[in-house]
Amino acid sequence: VTGSVEETFDTLMGELVSPMVVVTTASGGTRAGCLVGFHVQCGLEPPRYAIWLSKANRTYKVGALSEVFAVHFLARGDRAIAELFGAATGDEVDKFDRCSWTEGEGGVPLVDACPNRFTGRRTAWLDAGDDHVCIVLEPVEAEHVGLGRPLSLFDVVDLEPGHGATERQRPR
Ligand SMILES: Cc1cc2nc3c(=O)[nH]c(=O)nc-3n(C[C@H](O)[C@H](O)[C@H](O)COP(=O)(O)O)c2cc1C
Repeated sequence: VTGSVEETFDTLMGELVSPMVVVTTASGGTRAGCLVGFHVQCGLEPPRYAIWLSKANRTYKVGALSEVFAVHFLARGDRAIAELFGAATGDEVDKFDRCSWTEGEGGVPLVDACPNRFTGRRTAWLDAGDDHVCIVLEPVEAEHVGLGRPLSLFDVVDLEPGHGATERQRPR
């Protein structure tokens, strides 16, 4: 029960069963996507969903020029997809060469292995100056075939993210 606020906060967060999603986007024919643990429904009428993207990620850079994002909810068997999208960066590998996908609304890639998903149009991009930006989505398409037990943070804590939190995307 002792320790710094940061340590205690981390321990507290580590006890929560956070479901994992893969967020994809595209702009100007460039595709990107990453594993995301920071996401939640944030509106009812009309429905809204918030995701948070790290400024370290390629998905953030591509997403900054995109209005459309797909949110794929991972099932317990989707560990390999989580690894592809969470432990590799599109700055180094073409993730969409390594999985099967279909082009959706606005050119956004829909990962074929993850049929429980929705596509959303961005209604807000909120930057509080921290290491993640909040993107609020209005669902425009949704598909559901039954998820079962979601893949959670517990299943992927060992993954080393493709980019560390303090890295930043740079113009090329
Ligand atoms: C368990 C876990 C949770 C993560 N949660 C987020 C998140 O909420 N938002 C985010 O932008 N990145 C998150 N990441 C990091 C990215 O998925 C990871 O750095 C990815 O390799 C970035 O790929 P990109 O550079 O192609 O966008 C998480 C990674 C892991 C392993």
